[in-house]
Amino acid sequence: MSKPIHFPPDFIWGSATSAYQIEGSPLADGAGPSIWQRFCAVPGNVRDGDNGDIACDHYNRYKEDVALMARLGLKAYRFSVSWSRILPQGRGAVNQAGLDFYSKLIDELLAHGIEPMVTLYHWDLPAALDDRGGWLNPDIADWFTDYARILFQAFDGRVKSWATLNEPWVVTDGGYMHGTLAPGHRNLHEAALASHNLMRAHGSAVKAYREIGRHQIGIVVNIEPKYPASQSQEDLDATRRTDAYMNRQYLDPIFLGSYPAELKQMFGDAWPDWPAADFDLIGQQLDFVGINYYTRSVVRNEPSNWPLKVAPVRQPQATYTETGWEVFPQGLTDTLTTFTQRYGSMPVYIMENGSAFYDPPNAENGRVHDPLRIDCLRKNMQALSNALAQGVDVRGYMVWSLLDNLEWSLGFAKRFGIVHVNFETQQRTLKDSAYLYADIVASNGACLNPTV
Ligand code: BGC
Repeated sequence: MSKPIHFPPDFIWGSATSAYQIEGSPLADGAGPSIWQRFCAVPGNVRDGDNGDIACDHYNRYKEDVALMARLGLKAYRFSVSWSRILPQGRGAVNQAGLDFYSKLIDELLAHGIEPMVTLYHWDLPAALDDRGGWLNPDIADWFTDYARILFQAFDGRVKSWATLNEPWVVTDGGYMHGTLAPGHRNLHEAALASHNLMRAHGSAVKAYREIGRHQIGIVVNIEPKYPASQSQEDLDATRRTDAYMNRQYLDPIFLGSYPAELKQMFGDAWPDWPAADFDLIGQQLDFVGINYYTRSVVRNEPSNWPLKVAPVRQPQATYTETGWEVFPQGLTDTLTTFTQRYGSMPVYIMENGSAFYDPPNAENGRVHDPLRIDCLRKNMQALSNALAQGVDVRGYMVWSLLDNLEWSLGFAKRFGIVHVNFETQQRTLKDSAYLYADIVASNGACLNPTV
């Protein structure tokens, strides 16, 4: 018997998106190019040659999209700001029109009673900064802080929740280690350096916020709990390695003051002894941690796999989403309880959680039936409620995503939205999961419990 689903009365329900994935018009009104625009322009980088030139045309349709959120009863909206709209060269002269776009979006949200939750960096680095080395240049901590300060000042009072980085692990693993995401490098030394500079930039921006800001600031990390395929010492060690690399690499230095020891073994010479002073900067106190949860992985030792020597083990009985991720709701509970055990109790937000399935509109009634996404949503709600019952201080949940959008190098083919987007006509259609989510929000989760 599953336990009753229960959420605290002030629980914050919302949805999440990111700038390059939905906005379109990347160069409008004086904006500069980002590394994603460049990356998409290289044949073979993005499935079907897709790019963010139009995406969901949110740049022009933000009012319609806010109205959709209001219709769903959402209390919060997590979105990211495109750095190169604000600073076309990444630093220096401010593009007022870029600031105006986000200012209007924030006003529109507030007018509908929706709390804006802003992420400063969701992967779309200004191309001009990449030309100077991007995340490999130590000066990026200052560039990022200057950019952050502009936003803190411009939106002070209207935005009460800030996140510095979205998923630093993906930035380095996809961008600098395996080359699957912008800027597309494949280099162990660069991955180590980018990783550390991301953390310095994070810490420096939080420090700046403490001087200027009056509300909440945190970071958003993706956690994928790792389980050993067997109890052999090799598999247990492999599990520890991959957990250190993906899950503890960013949280340990913030909360425990040092990187996991496994990273040195894994990176070898590429992992220097970082200056001790950097850890004072990185370890700034946070008001919350944002966690993105999608799946788990079961792993085994595999000496031939560079650089971790780890291989995933497919679970024959499990359901997999279209991105090849196992549906494993228990992993959400485990993620939250393990986080609290390791780092202590603190406010946590699920900043992303969702699933990709292909659900075309029904030819007869035009509705979008998405039973698999609904099943995931229900199970994840149970898992989240279980974590709350075990004492984890979860304050809110942002479903990924409001809209079907550009799933990075997988293009538009993988759809995570609770709202279907026809990329030809830009028509938005609520999927069945959106109706369920609206009920969840309205009843604070109670609609998921069986009625007796
Ligand atoms: C990212 C999103 C992405 C989602 C699904 C997260 O890693 O923050 O931008 O679309 O996962 O892959």
